[in-house]
Amino acid sequence: MTVTEQTPAPATTPATTSRIPTKRTVLMCRPEHFTVSYRINPWMHPENPTDTSLAVQQWQRLYDIYLELGHEVHLIDPIAGLPDMVYAANGGFTYNGVAYGAKFAYPERQPEGPAYMQWFGDNGFRVHDPAETNEGEGDFLLVGDVILAGTGFRSDSRSHAELAEVTGLDVLSLNLINPSFYHLDTAIAVLDPEPIEGGRQNIAYLESAFDEHSLGVLRERYPDAILCTEEDAAVLGLNSYSDGYNIVIASRATDFDRQLRERGYNPIGVDLSELLLGGGGVKCCTLDLRW
Ligand code: ARG
Repeated sequence: MTVTEQTPAPATTPATTSRIPTKRTVLMCRPEHFTVSYRINPWMHPENPTDTSLAVQQWQRLYDIYLELGHEVHLIDPIAGLPDMVYAANGGFTYNGVAYGAKFAYPERQPEGPAYMQWFGDNGFRVHDPAETNEGEGDFLLVGDVILAGTGFRSDSRSHAELAEVTGLDVLSLNLINPSFYHLDTAIAVLDPEPIEGGRQNIAYLESAFDEHSLGVLRERYPDAILCTEEDAAVLGLNSYSDGYNIVIASRATDFDRQLRERGYNPIGVDLSELLLGGGGVKCCTLDLRW
């Protein structure tokens, strides 16, 4: 057997990299009408009770953390009868002053699309009313100048082409295969939202959530990615929000917490157990606004 000598590839995220937090601007929706009254993902059990005031209290903590971190948080009014509206990440995808609207897969959530588009229009975005089914940042994650886009459960792969046209960015399609990780933001965490000096922007992901082809794409593109454990993914640990240094994560995602610290990030744990009953976590409640 011949062994070809290889120079090790430079680490894209050396532990010594000094991580720089960036100010983020996000949209959130207070869960005043949160409950679980229908089942559109395996996390939801409408037969079990929910506690709306606890949901609000837990959400409030997340909101307060963002303010403490210096981020700018905008609010959209919650609408009675739309209990999933708290998951603002699904409301669209914004880039460079353009808001690509959401077109929800399930009828229960469809009225949220126009409600979010109305907000975007009222707040200075040029709104693109989508032709294709898509659930916004639930399935679209901006990493540098590429959008990672999920399909398989919610967003139609045709929306990926539409999004590429609307934003002018490259869109990389990834196939989700596990119904518990039905949105891309339940299976991938963006660790570096902005370019980092001397390295490539990195992500964390759950390998078993993707088909072989998509895994190949992820491994090649992010050789240094953090691989999340099944246990941490099962509390929606990957559904986190990073400013490049501070990363708000589910407090129960302990191994993810450890791996982030090792890489020089500052994980901040929150308990969103009530919103987990709807199948959402930190990132689901947070939509990036890029005017
Ligand atoms: N109950 C919601 C649904 O199934 C949860 C959405 C979670 N949001 C997210 N960005 N993953 O659509």
